[in-house]
Amino acid sequence: MEETRILTERDVSLERLPSVQPLSYEAYSLKGGYLGLSKAMDTLGPSGVRDAVKAAGLRGRGGAGFPTWKKWDMVMQQGEKKRYLCCNAAEDEPGTFKDRYLLRTNPHQLIEGVLIAAFTVGADEAYLFINCRYTEELVFMAEALRVSKTAGHWGLGSASGIVLKVCESPGSYVAGEETALLEVIEGREAKPRQKPPYYPTMHGLYGKPTVVNNAESLSNVPFIVREGAEAFQSLGSPSSPGTMIFTLTGDVNRPGLYERPLGTSLRTLISDCGGGIKDGLVLKAVFPGGPSVPVVPASKADLVLDFDTLKAAGTGLGTGAVIVMSEESCMVQVAIQYARFFANESCGQCPPCSLGTVHLSEILEKIEAGDGRESDITHLEQSCEMVKGRGQCFLLTGAAIAVESILSHFRHEFEAHVTAGGCPLIVQPVH
Ligand SMILES: Cc1cc2nc3c(=O)[nH]c(=O)nc-3n(C[C@H](O)[C@H](O)[C@H](O)COP(=O)(O)O)c2cc1C
Repeated sequence: MEETRILTERDVSLERLPSVQPLSYEAYSLKGGYLGLSKAMDTLGPSGVRDAVKAAGLRGRGGAGFPTWKKWDMVMQQGEKKRYLCCNAAEDEPGTFKDRYLLRTNPHQLIEGVLIAAFTVGADEAYLFINCRYTEELVFMAEALRVSKTAGHWGLGSASGIVLKVCESPGSYVAGEETALLEVIEGREAKPRQKPPYYPTMHGLYGKPTVVNNAESLSNVPFIVREGAEAFQSLGSPSSPGTMIFTLTGDVNRPGLYERPLGTSLRTLISDCGGGIKDGLVLKAVFPGGPSVPVVPASKADLVLDFDTLKAAGTGLGTGAVIVMSEESCMVQVAIQYARFFANESCGQCPPCSLGTVHLSEILEKIEAGDGRESDITHLEQSCEMVKGRGQCFLLTGAAIAVESILSHFRHEFEAHVTAGGCPLIVQPVH
């Protein structure tokens, strides 16, 4: 398919993922692999690559949609000679598998993206930070790195060239936060650093300027450099060019990974890719960008999936993890699942986060169990408001945003739990 040409070869269902084999070095080379790296080094030079990525309008696929060229430029402007590049494939968010797919199917594309980015920002060391549970992908990546190095791609024109290393992420959600990632590479626990002052572009790995980019962001780079900004912009929307790999999960007939142009509507993704809502049920709600962005009700299904449209609608594209809920979902239970997830994943370093996430879970569990009162709903609302923006990273805020958005759109379900003294959607056993 035309629109799947950049990153993936085809739509892949999650069930088929284990049998997908990586594209070999030879096959990748036949598709123009590593030509982007040659063009970057021989023709464009660092500023030319940065300008091409700027003209393409590539925005980060790791959650925030930050313009990739800007981050690179910040590091390029630093006086320090020693710089690092980190590729973030920690990926431990519920409903997200896209980086795993990229690592597995096309490791050379990612390696080429890392090499081009490192060349551009002047980094002579780069780390691939990969979820430790991706055991097969780690094996494939090790082999691809060996082949790429043997083929002479690590020279980058300088005497010493570049060193690429793999660092296994401990497989916790917070380890993917960029400063926690740096801590792990330096040999410490996955605990985010205080920002400011420790922005990675200034004080990153070992205190040196560092770019941290998501694996999908970097996988887009070879195409942009090789084919040009215009080719990249031929898909997607003006403010969000290119494609994104959406991980579609939840109550759809065909959950899976689907690479589609940014600007595709939620409805199209759910119906055309996902085969509609399972069992002929009706759509109730969607998290369009994973559990850390606000949920939207079914009435917003015509929203298009791009960074700015979703932001304007009060939600976000996040990691492109589209989680779908049918009319049969209890939204209080959905809120509990997310609140528990965040409570389990809190690294424990900030008391507002470790206590706040547990507190949100406890209020929700009380309501679900039928012991809640109207005042608990108000308390939940106030607690979400109170904890937002606290803690050293976005985890607690993400938890509060998710729960608060569910409450704001589905308050009637919370009230129904209070009135009914339990979950009205649970069928009571007949005695
Ligand atoms: C709790 C938490 C977990 C995160 N996990 C990931 C992750 O697994 N992968 C990722 O690329 N970014 C993750 N991020 C975002 C990173 O901090 C960072 O913004 C991203 O790697 C930047 O890449 P990009 O500019 O290419 O999007 C996480 C952020 C937070 C707050």
